[in-house]
Amino acid sequence: MKLEDLYRQVIMDHYKNPRNKGLVKNEDYKEVHLHNPSCGDDITIEVKIEDGHIKDIKHDGVGCSICCSSASVMSETLEGKSVDEAKEIVNDFFEMIQGDTLSEEKEDKLGEALAYKGVSQFPARIKCATLAWKACEKALEDGDKDE
Ligand code: FES
Repeated sequence: MKLEDLYRQVIMDHYKNPRNKGLVKNEDYKEVHLHNPSCGDDITIEVKIEDGHIKDIKHDGVGCSICCSSASVMSETLEGKSVDEAKEIVNDFFEMIQGDTLSEEKEDKLGEALAYKGVSQFPARIKCATLAWKACEKALEDGDKDE
């Protein structure tokens, strides 16, 4: 199977069977809501941070397949990571989407999120792929302020 086909499969799988979807609306979770003004889609992320680690991530909202699947992949990629490590992975994801080449070690940490590598060639879809990750980045920043 070609790598591109594999990536397409990952995206469709997470779009059709999203992991960690549905908000818990619990005060232990940081909630961030972000909107993509170019299409009207929006996404809400909830992050539960405990002892400097991400214990849980939830997401919900409306968006295209790239946007919604990316939220699902993000939730699985970052769950269990320390806040610092998660911030680094989020940054690496943004760099990859801008078309930068990452080290093998960084690519390993991105795991299934590598499926969005090709998005760098479609500038209009960059916002779709990064919306959930931007929301998570904001939740992690806000989480730091509280400590
Ligand atoms: Fe709206 Fe992708 S078209 S987020």
